[in-house]
Amino acid sequence: MNRHIKIFDTTLRDGEQAPGCSMNLYEKQEVARQLEALKVDVMEAGFAVSSPGDFESVKTIANLVKESSVASLSRALEKDIDASAEALVGAVHPRIHLFIATSDVHMQYKLRMTPEQVLERTAAMVSYARNRCADVEFSAEDATRSDREFLAKVVTAAIKAGAGTVNIPDTVGYTTPAEMYDLIQYLRNNVENIDQAIIAVHCHDDLGMATANSLAGVKAGAGQIECTVNGIGERAGNAALEEVVMALQTRPDLYGGTTMIETRQLYRASRLIYNIIGQTVPLNKSIVGKNAFVHESGIHQHGVMAERTTYEIIKPESVGFLANNMVLGKHSGRHAFDARLSELGYALTKDELDTAFAKFKQIADRKKDVTDSDLEAIVTNREYVENLYKLVTFDVHTAKDTNAVCVIRLRRNGDELEDVSLGDGPVDAAYNAIDKIIGITDSKLEYYTINSTSDGQDALGEVIVKVRSGNELLTGRGLSTDIIESSILAYLNALNKLVSFS
Ligand code: KIV
Ligand code: ZN
Repeated sequence: MNRHIKIFDTTLRDGEQAPGCSMNLYEKQEVARQLEALKVDVMEAGFAVSSPGDFESVKTIANLVKESSVASLSRALEKDIDASAEALVGAVHPRIHLFIATSDVHMQYKLRMTPEQVLERTAAMVSYARNRCADVEFSAEDATRSDREFLAKVVTAAIKAGAGTVNIPDTVGYTTPAEMYDLIQYLRNNVENIDQAIIAVHCHDDLGMATANSLAGVKAGAGQIECTVNGIGERAGNAALEEVVMALQTRPDLYGGTTMIETRQLYRASRLIYNIIGQTVPLNKSIVGKNAFVHESGIHQHGVMAERTTYEIIKPESVGFLANNMVLGKHSGRHAFDARLSELGYALTKDELDTAFAKFKQIADRKKDVTDSDLEAIVTNREYVENLYKLVTFDVHTAKDTNAVCVIRLRRNGDELEDVSLGDGPVDAAYNAIDKIIGITDSKLEYYTINSTSDGQDALGEVIVKVRSGNELLTGRGLSTDIIESSILAYLNALNKLVSFS
């Protein structure tokens, strides 16, 4: 039997609420477009009632997305449901996702409600939500630590009140695959109306078992997995979308279910999220890590050359993994550039292509071979705001055991602004000079990382920074063959966001 397993992506809600993973509205729209390209069944766009910013994000994404359902999270409260319904008005396929906790510890200490009150509230709020939206999902928060009989009663009541999907979250990543399998089986056998709803599983990764637990849920009959790209999410994160999807695809014999996911978009989706949240891909990350398809040992290489399947269970190209072909150089024209990007699966608007091509030309002037990875870095290094301050030039001097000094010149509108500063090293000196020009006094560099996007001495250096100003944490990215320039561009990118959002 080959069942359709729905993929409910919560990168923009559970993922985004994790520390260091927040995204601005432009970035969220970019993610929503990518999730639609992945063909997720449902994307959770946010928690509309939680802030005006979240409300706006849900509303914008609801208007943008046409194929996937768009969900907004709500507590079991009328005001939350109202906010979700309002934010989802423009959605083609809106879904209200409401939750209430069912474990003793949550009911007693967090909700301060009795089990009877939780049961009553569930029925009343699911029915309230159904009056505002035809598609309602109910989640029993901390289900895996809840009393099973009580959980079954709550799930029965939710379905009776109109929930089309009932979600069984492992909120604190506590359960194991065997236990999850057993729990879903128990609910299938003890919830009399269970055939009127789809069972979902939503697993956190505190003990490193989120993917395994989600798959065990499917094996026991769940029809929806909730997950995030790269597994970002609260604490240790959620089940990783790319892992659950590829496990289902690789082992149909075991799980008997397939998803609608366009798997060739997985690698791109992963890179987009890592870029936006300013993290680098762990080399050995399943499915999307740089080493996921690399065979280093002689025995493995020999085996793969003789027969690919000796050591490879997934074809790299099936997840959109880029072969590192040298393709373009400084004599390559616009046509070749556009063609290669579309071969790599990028669908950019004309303006985006113009900007990317200008960046490519700058880089090709300084770098002999521009590889697919370089092209990908150029495209994913898009700026999400109109940069008020642009780099004109810089001059940096550094030597052992002395302070570095940097002169920077920026352009703002038509004016050129210049300043000079000392620093512990060239990057520090450059950042101090930029702070002086822009007049920033309260920002703090919290994170700085540099990576090369390809091999060789002329590789592009990609710098990612996070700059804190008050409650805002802004990510900036810069790309150049000169790592001081990448560092300056990344910092300017973050400060431009700061000035444009404040
Ligand atoms: O982990 C959890 O329980 C949740 C619910 C709100 C579904 O994220
Ligand atoms: Zn969660």
